[in-house]
Parts: sequence; C-alpha cells; structure tokens
Amino acid sequence: MTVVNGSKAGAATGGQGKTDANRAKVLKDLTRKLYSEAPEEDDERARAHGARADYLRRFAAKVRGELVLPSRPKLVFRQGVVDFLCAEEADDLKAIYLLPWEVHFGAEDCNENSLFEWIGWVRDTPNARVLLVGDSMECMTKDSVGAIFSQRYSPQHQMELLATTLEPIAPKLYGLSDGNHERRITKTTSLNPGYWVANALGVPYFHGSQGVLNIHLGKGRNGKPVSYIIHFGHGTSSSRTAGGRLTAAGKMKDIVLGADCYIAGHTHGHSIDKGCRLVVDPQNSKVREEKYMTVLAGSFLEYAGYAREAGMAPLGSGCPRIRLDGKRKDIHGSL
Ligand SMILES: [Fe+2]
Repeated sequence: MTVVNGSKAGAATGGQGKTDANRAKVLKDLTRKLYSEAPEEDDERARAHGARADYLRRFAAKVRGELVLPSRPKLVFRQGVVDFLCAEEADDLKAIYLLPWEVHFGAEDCNENSLFEWIGWVRDTPNARVLLVGDSMECMTKDSVGAIFSQRYSPQHQMELLATTLEPIAPKLYGLSDGNHERRITKTTSLNPGYWVANALGVPYFHGSQGVLNIHLGKGRNGKPVSYIIHFGHGTSSSRTAGGRLTAAGKMKDIVLGADCYIAGHTHGHSIDKGCRLVVDPQNSKVREEKYMTVLAGSFLEYAGYAREAGMAPLGSGCPRIRLDGKRKDIHGSL
C-alpha cells in the first residue's frame, strides 16, 4: 500500500473528494503497518520475562516437599514498639545457622543463581534459618531513584515471584521486614510489599524495618535452652568504608540494650565485628564481661549499577552465616 508512507498518505488524502472513510482507511492501514513492523524486542522481552517466571515456578515446585526440617521452631510473634519474635527451637539442636538476607529480587544485578544455591543449602540443612532484613525486592517506581526499565520484573511480579521462590523454605524463615527499596512503593501507595510477601508465605512481618528475636535452642549446662537476643534493622548509612559502615551499625546498641547480636542491612557490607561490654550485676555484686557481635548483612547483588556509577568498590554477593551454639552461649560468624 502506498498510503502508509506519511507523505504519500497525505497526497492520497489531501486531494479533492477526500472523505472521512478514506481518512479512516489511511489511518487503519497506517496503524496496521506500524504494528506489523513494530520491533519484536517487546515480544521477546515479554517472552523472556515469562520464561524466567516459569523457571522460577519450576524451581520452587522442584524443591517443594524436599525440605529437611526434623522439627519446626515454635514461633510467638508480638507487635510493639519494636516487633518481637520468640523462636523456640528443638532442645536436641546443637546449633543453628542464621542467615540475614538482602535479596534485591528483580534487580538487574541480582544474582538469582546464587540465591537458588543458598535456598538449596537452607533446604538441605536442618538447622538453617533465614531472616530477610529489608530490600528483599528492588521495587523501583517511576518516582524513585534508579533506572526503572532495568528491573527484571515489575514490582507486582517481584512480590509474586519472590514469594514463589521462597515458599519451599518458608518454615525456615523467621520473617521479613521492609527496607528503603520497599518503602519506595509505600511512599507513593501506602502499600508494604514485605507485608504482602510475608502474608503469602505465612511468616512474621516486622513493622518499622527492625525487630528483636529471642531464640531458644538446645540445652545448656543448667538443663535449660540456651537463649540469644538478636536485634536487626535495615538501617541507613552511605559510608564508603568498612569502618564507617560498622560504626553506623554499632549505633543499634543505643536502641536495644544487651543484645547478643546486632544485624544491620542497607550497606551490603558483608562484615562481622566482635565487641565486648561490661555489665553491672547488682544481684551478685560484680561487674562481668559480655561479648556481642555486629553483623553487616550482604546482598545478592553483583557489582550493582549504582555502585559502578558512584565509583564504589564491589562488595560481593552472598550473606554472612551466624552460628548460635545450643550447648553454651557462643556466637560465631563466617563470611
Ligand atoms: Fe540493599
């Protein structure tokens, strides 16, 4: 058809006797031509997203039902000034491994294969537990920072697919909270993406991007379970140095006193620091030493675009592993 070219269409429709019907036909042909010649990238992108979603669902279906969990922890969750979770683990557990995760699911640089490997490890390790400390999803919006079109999935699909991906290990999740990325959605819609995912998985949702855990496990010398207090928060810090990131995380000690372990997200620092404090024990008229640990969660981001553009060094993907002993009070961390 010659009329699909703009100038020729104009010529064809610009003469005497032009009718509305002719104009409609020109537009119809033009529309048909444009659609038929539209680049297939959009279709391929949609197909790629659909294939990736199918892959994630197949992955979840494959590992579902194979979870190694001899005894489920009994969870008691209470909302308050800071949400509180009491986890009573089995008294025959020698230790548990607690993994703080920041997934950034849906981000262009999210290493999904690494996430799948960790999920497989959690699935196969009876005493592995996971805590999602915010930024579980990328959650870019048109009004937020970041290149919105670089996301692998829309925020709605990020929520659906993350819930699908984590569902096989849901009984091993202590819960999740939102980070600054989820708050991008909250800011413009009032909706909490983490709340939606937590409800889909049936796990606790910690409001206010922080929470306190009291984990009981094993049996100490006195015959009672060993107890650990853990305070986690997504936190904020833009420090470029390991020391600065740990200093920012160290301020958590001013929020919740006496925790055995403080876990901070946001910086992707992937670091562990051991500290010691003196505690006055008036009942026994003495001052005693207490150890505590500060942990910077890592993330599943590879060398992220924002870090490259800001000239920041890559911090590596993955997560620290925190070991809580079930025979005596002892915390170890490995990276
Ligand atoms: Fe993050």
